[in-house]
Amino acid sequence: MELTEFNNFLKTKYKTDIVFFDQFMEEALYSEFGFFNTKKVRSKKSGDFLTSPEVSKYFGKVINNWIKTNSLKSNIVELGSGTGSLIEQITHQKIFAIELSLTARKELRKKNIENFESIENLGFDSSDLVFGNEVLDNIPCSIAIYKNNKWFEKAVKLSDQSLSYHHVEARDEVLDWININGIQGDENIEVEVQFNTDQFLEDISIKLNPQYYLFFDYGFEQKDRKKRKYKSLLRTYKDHHLGVDPIQDPGNVDITYDVNFSSVSRKLETLGYRLTLLSQNSFLIENGFNEYFDQLQNQLLLSEGLENLTINSELSGLKALIDSNGLGGFYCLIAKKI
Ligand SMILES: C[S@@+](CC[C@H](N)C(=O)[O-])C[C@H]1O[C@@H](n2cnc3c(N)ncnc32)[C@H](O)[C@@H]1O
Repeated sequence: MELTEFNNFLKTKYKTDIVFFDQFMEEALYSEFGFFNTKKVRSKKSGDFLTSPEVSKYFGKVINNWIKTNSLKSNIVELGSGTGSLIEQITHQKIFAIELSLTARKELRKKNIENFESIENLGFDSSDLVFGNEVLDNIPCSIAIYKNNKWFEKAVKLSDQSLSYHHVEARDEVLDWININGIQGDENIEVEVQFNTDQFLEDISIKLNPQYYLFFDYGFEQKDRKKRKYKSLLRTYKDHHLGVDPIQDPGNVDITYDVNFSSVSRKLETLGYRLTLLSQNSFLIENGFNEYFDQLQNQLLLSEGLENLTINSELSGLKALIDSNGLGGFYCLIAKKI
């Protein structure tokens, strides 16, 4: 995609030559020029990054166990289903997919997974469970910067040949989010402001009033932010590698950031939920991971040839799911309606 084409699209849509970062991120990911709307589905081996359900089918099998334990049955919804692998792994109940990407929705249709662009298209108004894997990190964030004792926002200036960052006065909704979350200004830290995530969760709660939410994602808790050595927690991915600054290649790179789970927890608490925040590996181990692991280890001992190779590869996938330096170190957030 030509940069000029994308710039003209933004200028026409927003009727300005400077857009806030969350608006830029929204269009660079989900517009007709967006990363998630090109020919290939991004969250798979032939795409740009691998996620837990793409690494191992046992991710869904363990979630299946958790769903059974909690007797969740009615109108289960997955947000941001990608290829639909996780839904295929959760065989216990029918699951509805909500997916913004047209490309991914085509793949979901091929797999006969009932899918919609938005929760507003769902024909029901209650749900036992709304869940998502690596969806929160793709919800457009704005970026706040603290300079000379004042908050600014990073905005993207559109000129014909290039895009560049400018600092503009922070919008009220950004200042509100910073205040509600008790975030202190620090000139060495850029803040990924998740007010769109707050809105997203509020819209879901109004429409579906879920009994449970379940989210998995990379992230951090606010109390630990200073321990992270990076000024910004925003990054891009392309072809399974870290990519360039997002304004250098819009539409061709994934734009993502570490989710502030303290903020997500606070929002869900205000919506009436009791929270449990744990690591992905703890969730998996508490819900039957070891049984699958032991079964496979036993099968491995008795196997040979191709079967032996397959079991070995399944065991590697399982190990990757709980590796605390990788997927296992992700956060798992369980929210139960009080
Ligand atoms: C990182 S991928 C994860 C895909 C899948 N959950 C997985 O684990 O493989 C994020 C997906 O969320 C989708 N997405 C992001 N924001 C969304 C929203 N507001 N509603 C529905 N889907 C969304 C994107 O289009 C993309 O397919």
